[in-house]
Amino acid sequence: SSDAGGTLAIRARVLTYHAHPLGVGEGGSHRYIEDGLVVISDGLIEAVGEAGALLPDLALDCPVADYRPFLVTAGFVDPHLHLPQTQVVGSYGTELMEWLQRYTFPEETRYGDPAVADAASRFLLHELLRNGTTTAVAFCTSHPQSVESFFTESQRIGLRMVAGKVMMDRNAPEALLDTPRRGYDESKALIARWHGNGRLAYAISPRFAPTSTEAQLEATQALAAEYPAMHVQTHLCENTGEIAFVAELFPWSKDYTAVYERYGLVRRKALFGHCIHLSERERGALAEAGATAVFCPTSNLFLGSGLFDRDAALEAGLRTGIATDIGGGTSYSMLTTAAEGYKVLALRRQTLPGHAAFYMLTAGNADAIGYGDRIGQVAPGFEADLVVLDTHATPALRRRMERVETLEEELFVLMTMGDDRSIVSTYAAGRKVHARGTGGIDLPP
Ligand code: GUN
Ligand code: ZN
Repeated sequence: SSDAGGTLAIRARVLTYHAHPLGVGEGGSHRYIEDGLVVISDGLIEAVGEAGALLPDLALDCPVADYRPFLVTAGFVDPHLHLPQTQVVGSYGTELMEWLQRYTFPEETRYGDPAVADAASRFLLHELLRNGTTTAVAFCTSHPQSVESFFTESQRIGLRMVAGKVMMDRNAPEALLDTPRRGYDESKALIARWHGNGRLAYAISPRFAPTSTEAQLEATQALAAEYPAMHVQTHLCENTGEIAFVAELFPWSKDYTAVYERYGLVRRKALFGHCIHLSERERGALAEAGATAVFCPTSNLFLGSGLFDRDAALEAGLRTGIATDIGGGTSYSMLTTAAEGYKVLALRRQTLPGHAAFYMLTAGNADAIGYGDRIGQVAPGFEADLVVLDTHATPALRRRMERVETLEEELFVLMTMGDDRSIVSTYAAGRKVHARGTGGIDLPP
């Protein structure tokens, strides 16, 4: 009944965003249908509306999954995480540069083994679906095999995913280093094989300025110039020690962002993880280029990196996403990520209401990665990547929800107290790929 290509309908409370709630004020940014129907055909959303209006026209043999009183939204989008860090999460006691040297780099050396990369890809993708995340932008390792594994498994499930082979040629263990030539050639081979293959897209992935020589950044610039519409992903201004190191390595550069500008890497669909300690100049340069800053609250708290300044980003017109950053980040759940984002912003005397948070997890993150025209909304023509949410999934949620009166409050409590237990079902391209409590996914044989 849920085969790709088939027609099906989902009946539930439907919630979708078409604009940023902070820009237009609550009410103008979303559509909410108390008894809604989402009609899906060939992996796309065909119609969305009142169940009472759409049901009479539905084909008699069209299966209807009745999820009332659950809530259906677009699947969550996680614009920054690391495939090889599922067994790094929760590594104790250090900040960024030491955390990389002591825990992360040694772990990543294991990913030259296809069995390790395959197992991690299977785990990660299924864990994302268990948390309602249907699209992610992933760093793999410097081993091309890690990208092969991730894309192979993503394609098997039918997910829209973005990923790339990390390029790094200095300041890491020998076993992780490529060279300017190898980084370029291996990336190109992966692009030829995977970019635009079904729902998959390649991201040009220099790890960050400290692990690339100027020669490698030049090769990266050449690659990026050959593929002007391709995603670029890297890290920027996460930690003060990191920023001081960049100043030492690139003495000619006026700031950290200028290193990436020098090599043509600041542009639309360039995703910069963290962006905590940006100057006004840097924020302006990123905004003007149409680039994206990615806020990773659980990681920024766990590694003691600092507090993202969301209001400064908004004022600068800098596109902003919110992400888990597994495994500097500590949760796979975008609900938990939003909750921790709220707390980071609270320390800055900034806010993140429920509607703004759910906008960010769906349409906002979709726009942040340049896919605002195909995912992130429950609307006709969009890809049928959906999550069904139970706002009363636990005793604590049920108790708290007794005192909730508005949708805004319900969403805010859901993100604050909810987690994978609130994820009832996840759909990708109209196919059910996760059902709560089953631990598996429905796939054609
Ligand atoms: N900067 C460069 N590499 C990494 C990484 O793997 N995680 C985080 N949080 N920051 C980085
Ligand atoms: Zn990262």
